[in-house]
Order: sequence, then structure tokens, then C-alpha cells
Amino acid sequence: MSTRFRVNFNALILLVVLQGAAVVLFCNWYAQPSSCESEPSQRRVHVLLVSSWRSGSSFLGQVFSQHPSVFYLMEPAWHVWTKVEKPGAGLLRMAVRDLLRSVFQCDFSVMDPYLPEKYNMSSLFMWTQSRALCSPPACPITQRGQFSNETQCLQKCEARGLDVVEAACRTYSHVVLKEVRFFELESLYPLLKDPNLDLRIIHLVRDPRAVMKSREASPKAFLRDSAIVLEQKNIPAAEVSYKVLQEICKSHIRINKRAILKPPSFLKGRYKMVRYEDLARNPLQEVSDIYEFVGLEMTRQMGEWIYKKTHGKGKGTKKEAFQITSRNAADVSQAWRTVLPFSKVKRVQELCKGAMSLLGYKTVDSEKEQKKLDIDLLVPREPFQFSWEPAKTEQTDTI
Ligand SMILES: *[C@@H]1O[C@H](CO)[C@@H](O)[C@H](O)[C@H]1NC(C)=O
Ligand SMILES: *[C@@H]1O[C@H](CO)[C@@H](O)[C@H](O)[C@H]1NC(C)=O
Repeated sequence: MSTRFRVNFNALILLVVLQGAAVVLFCNWYAQPSSCESEPSQRRVHVLLVSSWRSGSSFLGQVFSQHPSVFYLMEPAWHVWTKVEKPGAGLLRMAVRDLLRSVFQCDFSVMDPYLPEKYNMSSLFMWTQSRALCSPPACPITQRGQFSNETQCLQKCEARGLDVVEAACRTYSHVVLKEVRFFELESLYPLLKDPNLDLRIIHLVRDPRAVMKSREASPKAFLRDSAIVLEQKNIPAAEVSYKVLQEICKSHIRINKRAILKPPSFLKGRYKMVRYEDLARNPLQEVSDIYEFVGLEMTRQMGEWIYKKTHGKGKGTKKEAFQITSRNAADVSQAWRTVLPFSKVKRVQELCKGAMSLLGYKTVDSEKEQKKLDIDLLVPREPFQFSWEPAKTEQTDTI
């Protein structure tokens, strides 16, 4: 009786050991280590917020950053763009892609070559914009579910190492990275096909005339980036803004057509285009849709915060290039119509014609039409919504 029991017991141990070995092998071969370490049932979602300069991405970034389930980081690619001497965007895109892949998986060792010799958490670009870096385990000052305060975070959290950043990252269900430095989707294909990632792409676009107005308010802020976008070409100073805007418009067409007209199968259900103007007019509904797309819950606190941030006073006269303030978002999105001279509006419309018609921005034919604010220049979004109908024949366009 006792012998038989021992045999069974040994067999049981053997089974357990084998099973353990199988899990280890499985984890090494196939899944990402972290999904085996912690809760295997809960896969992390990776969100890439693709936008361009002055398109409301700071606000949308904060909509993610302040959410208690999100680890958010702004522009990790900034480190690549600023470290390499006089580069062009084309040269950098694979380095940026690989950096994102590691950061999405909470591996920050990839940042090492781009950081100063002695670094800590505060060496990360715009790190105080990340609520997660002001919350435990990265820093004790902001409890989850509370909203972070940049000033306090800057004073109390800077001296921490990147190991706590990694540890913090692993405790969230969503890792969200914002980038203004993508001009195509093709370089992201390996990430979309990577079984260790569950990538969703949110493509935030804005009326190029409003982008122009906003860039003009802080011309110095973009010198370096503009040179990279324009591949260091020698372009007269007065033309730089127009040329950059043209590149941005081309990228809107390139990205949107790639994702909607002829999407490869692995892009299916992973791309969502968001227009800044829709976000400004109907922030709660738009953010709810965005949260749903990535699998985040709209909390009561987030709802109140979003309302407050989009219904403040003022029309966006603040000079700081990267600040978000409480102001009337709907007014801000129309400000270009009273500020920008018609000659500039006309030029932007010529350069961005294809993108504007694709994204649903109506052109104006006269100064009178431009300044008459009750003429709505936004085409309702419905025809632009995501569909999987057979692709129409591709029209020749400005790319
Ligand atoms: C953030 O904290 C600073 C310093 O404690 C305080 O002066 C400021 O009012 C706070 N900002 C907000 C938006 O609460
Ligand atoms: C953290 O790094 C920044 C930037 O390299 C540096 O200015 C700061 O002194 C460092 N802080 C500490 C406490 O090491």
C-alpha cells in the first residue's frame, strides 16, 4: 500500500517537473518573459499614438497618461533624433522602430546609447508628462487614480534610475507611446506581426491650416526637427514651414491609405484615425471611442478631467510649444480662421489639397469665407470611418 503510494507520488512529482519545464520552454520560445512571470491571462496592450507637431497630441497623450491603467511615455524617438548628428528621417526610422519595440516591452536598456553618460529618470524627454513616472513604484507622490502635478513631480521624483522605470512599466496593462516622428506605417510592420506585442495605432490628424497657425506661434521650437524632416536639404527659411507641412500632409495620405484602402491582414482592427477637430467638438464621446478601441475603461474621474481640460477660458494664445492648458478646445480649433492671412491659407490649401480632401477638411475660396466662422469646414466623419469593403482603385495623388 505504502509502496504504491510512493510510486504515484514520484510520478506526480515527475509530472509537475515536466510541466514546469514545458512552461519554461514555452515562455522562452514563444511568449514574452513578462507574460509568464506575472499574470499570464492578462496580455499587455501596446498603443502607439502617431501624430505630428502641433496637432493636439499633448492633450491626447495626457488623456492616456492620467489614466490609472496606463504607462505613458512621450516621444522616446526624440532621443534618437537628437543624438545622431545631422540625420534624415529616412535613416532613423528603423532605429526608432526598434527602440519602440523594446520600450513597449518595458526594456529601457535600449535607451542607453542615446542618454548622457550619467542618467536617471529625469533624462527621459518630457518625463514629468508621464503620470506613471510620478506614481509608485517609480515615485511615491501620486497615488494611482489621482492626477499628477508636473511641478511636484519635477521636484520630488528626478533622482530615480531607469530600473524603477522598468519596474513601473511592468505593473500596467497598457503601455502608450506618443510619437510625432512617423511618416509611414511600413517600418512598423514587424511590430504588428510580433507575437509579443498587441499593437494598436492611433493616428491623430489636424487641419493643416490650424497646424500652420500653431507652428508660427513658436517658430524656433521646430528648427532641428524641420531639418530632419526635410532630410537636411538647403531650403530658404521662409519656405521651411510650408515644406514641412507638405511632408506632414503627404504622410497623412500615405498612412491613411495604407491602413484603409489596402491594409495588410495584420493591420486589421489595429488602426484608428482621429481628427483633432472631432476631439475638440465632442471630447467625451471621442475619448470614449478611443478608450474602447484600446480596451481602457472610461472612469468618472477621467470623464471630469477631460471635460475640465476642454472647457476652459482663452483661445490658445499661450506661447509654450508643449503646454496644454484648460481652454475652450472648440474655439482653439477655429483660431486659424481669424489669425492667418488668406494668402497663407491659400498656399497651405494648395500644398495639402490631397490630404485635406481625404481627411475631410473643406477649402475656402476667399478671405470672406475664411473669416465667416459659421461656415463649417469639417466634413462629417461618417464617410471616413473605417471600413473593410474591397479597396477601390487607387487614385493618383500627391505622394
Ligand atoms: C502643482 O503644484 C504646485 C506646487 O506645489 C502648485 O503651485 C500648483 O498650483 C499645482 N498645480 C496644479 C494644477 O494643481
Ligand atoms: C539626474 O540626471 C539629470 C540629468 O542628467 C541631472 O541634471 C541631475 O542632477 C540628476 N539627479 C541626480 C539626483 O542624480
